Amino acid sequence: MIVGVLKEIKDNENRVAITPKGVQEFVSKGHELLVQKDAGIGSGFSNEEYEDAGAKLIDAPKELCEKAEMVMKIKEPIKDEHTYFRKDQVLFTYFHFASMKELTDNMISSNAACVAYETVELEDRSLPLLAPMSEVAGKMSIHIGAHYLAKFAGGKGILLAGVTNVNSGTVVIIGGGVVGEAAAKVALGMGANTTVIELRDERIEEMKKLYPKLNLVKSTPENIANEVPKADLLVGGVLVAGAEAPKLVSREMVAKMAPGSVIVDVAIDQGGCIETSRPTSHSDPVYVEEGVTHYCVTNMPGAFPRTSTFAITGATLPYALEMADKGWKNALKENPALLKGLNMIDGKITYKGVSDAFGMEYVEPEKALG
Ligand SMILES: NC(=O)c1ccc[n+]([C@@H]2O[C@H](COP(=O)([O-])OP(=O)(O)OC[C@H]3O[C@@H](n4cnc5c(N)ncnc54)[C@H](O)[C@@H]3O)[C@@H](O)[C@H]2O)c1
Repeated sequence: MIVGVLKEIKDNENRVAITPKGVQEFVSKGHELLVQKDAGIGSGFSNEEYEDAGAKLIDAPKELCEKAEMVMKIKEPIKDEHTYFRKDQVLFTYFHFASMKELTDNMISSNAACVAYETVELEDRSLPLLAPMSEVAGKMSIHIGAHYLAKFAGGKGILLAGVTNVNSGTVVIIGGGVVGEAAAKVALGMGANTTVIELRDERIEEMKKLYPKLNLVKSTPENIANEVPKADLLVGGVLVAGAEAPKLVSREMVAKMAPGSVIVDVAIDQGGCIETSRPTSHSDPVYVEEGVTHYCVTNMPGAFPRTSTFAITGATLPYALEMADKGWKNALKENPALLKGLNMIDGKITYKGVSDAFGMEYVEPEKALG
């Protein structure tokens, strides 16, 4: 198969979809690898390393996409890239369609097959291609929040860790999945008073056993309204797979937080779980609403590309190789986890969370594949 790897163009996005080691694996199995020039630079991989691994470097992204049967990326295609894709081609990347109507419409028009990293799902309902980046973003959320609590950064001047004879700060995390657990680990490690608000009882019990010092609260509107005003740092980490995030924190609740508090809404890539959240970028990451600093960057792991590229490519490589080895249609038919990733094909939406988000028609993926 001819596989193409695009250079990311989203603001400050320095991850790359395949490492030179990954290229070697494809090439050793007889596949042809086209890598856009400079695609790996931000993650510390030179053009020469890709060439030595057996890739052919291509300068123009459009030309690369014309030739490739499978295109791999990290983030969703940005507007300039929307016209690059075509029928009988598979695009393997993060999409987060449910929060992006224009992207959804344009990918429908392209007729390409869109396999979304974030909805590939194993039998136990875990999301193996979302989890590595959620761990990065969850851990980052506490570092970032701690930074914006500093007075010089517009914050209320509370050190989350506290000091001798002075109380620690309070971190409230909504959603106890991968983001929530990673954030809780770092917050507890710092010594912050840490609360996780989670919906599933079995997950609450599991986390209680793992983290005895963690305060666990069942997610109800009353409990959220009660916990949010106590937060120096509020982290949004809920997910209903593939669907737009539920708005669990209202503007009124945000207004009850003390001025100079901080919100990091990690769930912003699915639209955000806080009413006052709107997407921001690494070059302009925060804004203030109701006296509270909001950080809502949609590609947080892009800030630590070296760590993140190793983490994400380690997870995606086996699926990408399977699509190349078997042909992507056969791989989708044979691997139920991968089939869950199919959000669109031939202009039809094959993921319920996406069709529901826009009131569009849903077609069973098996049927759409033919
Ligand atoms: N901004 C970024 O750069 C970035 C990076 C990685 C992940 N994310 C996003 O972070 C979000 C969380 O990802 P994850 O991997 O932790 O998902 P996950 O599925 O592991 O965890 C989500 C948790 O939310 C819980 N939940 C669902 N509804 C809830 C409710 N009403 N109240 C409380 N909890 C509820 C679920 O039970 C689950 O435990 C996703 O939207 C993901 O795309 C964003």
